[in-house]
Amino acid sequence: MPDAVIAATGLYTPPNSLSNVELVETFNAYVARFNTANAEAIEAGRIEGLTPSSAEFIEKASGIKSRFVVDKSGLMDPELMRPVIPERSNEELSVLAEIAVEAARDALARWGKPASGIGAVICAASNMQRAYPAMAIEVQQALGIEGFAFDMNVACSSATFGLKTAADFVASGSARAVLMVNPEICSGHLNFRDRDSHFIFGDVATAAIVEREDEADDGAGWEILGTRLKTQFSNNIRNNFGFLNRGAPEGVGQKDKLFVQEGRKVFREVVPMVSEMIVEHAADLGIDPTGLKRLWLHQANINMNEMIGRRVLGRDPAPGENVIILDEYANTSSAGSIIAFHKASDDFARGDTGLICSFGAGYSAGTVFVRKR
Ligand code: COA
Repeated sequence: MPDAVIAATGLYTPPNSLSNVELVETFNAYVARFNTANAEAIEAGRIEGLTPSSAEFIEKASGIKSRFVVDKSGLMDPELMRPVIPERSNEELSVLAEIAVEAARDALARWGKPASGIGAVICAASNMQRAYPAMAIEVQQALGIEGFAFDMNVACSSATFGLKTAADFVASGSARAVLMVNPEICSGHLNFRDRDSHFIFGDVATAAIVEREDEADDGAGWEILGTRLKTQFSNNIRNNFGFLNRGAPEGVGQKDKLFVQEGRKVFREVVPMVSEMIVEHAADLGIDPTGLKRLWLHQANINMNEMIGRRVLGRDPAPGENVIILDEYANTSSAGSIIAFHKASDDFARGDTGLICSFGAGYSAGTVFVRKR
């Protein structure tokens, strides 16, 4: 069976950066309006007043300083607090496919081969904009790719599940090369009126091309040493929005139609699950995890990422060893580990090894060990 390599990656970053200060200013304007409008009921104890958010708390609790978003105007309007993304006609490229195509073009340019060399497209993401036709098929058509395409959703772990699926397709001969895209408009699923989570996510798109090793250019790309996936059911990160339970997402009793989480439980349960999975997978591959040159982890939260980094490397990671892009991008769901890999892997020499790892709702986690060719 042919081995698979990650031949190239690509990135699309939306043009608008939204700082914590801007986000909090809007949130606090909403809180002030709400408390003024409901002053009597709050005073009488019939409803609870809202508490302001703080930019200092956000940076300290999450490591996030800013995030990129597809639309900033709606997020800065205290009356709206959601992205304004005009609906497009069915004849236009949908917005999710559009950002995926941008990331894919970046990956194709770095690959240096034509899109016709791709045999399958996987759109692996948390935040799909519709049920069907698949976004992946739209991307396939926009890029003039033959073969087959489909969407898959494993929340924040989608990219590693997509990479494993792509590597398996290449190994089994289903496709000679696979394009995986991770378009994430996380601002669409985030409740910007929820003080506990309004700061967590940002928007972005990433792409990766996986191809047969015997067809990859000499010395190009990354040998995939091993892939492993794991899931374990949990209600601690959840989004109930769906066709069977529609409703105004921000309405009373509708909060769980957007992103909700039990952040502390997620922290407590996911850190050991992922750390153990990485160490066990490394042992099975004969890799000493403390000798990994770099970790490209899912960008969840600075404290979670640092703790997993310490457990895997067995020491405090040196600067740059455990790549953090959260400060600039926030949590971008499935795309986070691929942004980290894309931005911080150029300096690898032949034979250097590293780990791409994602984790999130489900619970779900995936590990992809790679070695520079
Ligand atoms: N601004 C100011 N203060 C805030 C706030 C905000 N936006 N949100 C919460 N707080 C306050 C709370 O009111 C609380 O105050 P108190 O101690 O006086 O009651 C305090 O901060 C701690 O709140 P808590 O929700 O317990 O925060 P935390 O320390 O657990 O941090 C997370 C919250 C989400 C950052 C943390 O639980 C976490 O990192 N979890 C991991 C989850 C994750 O990354 N999920 C992504 C999917 S993989």
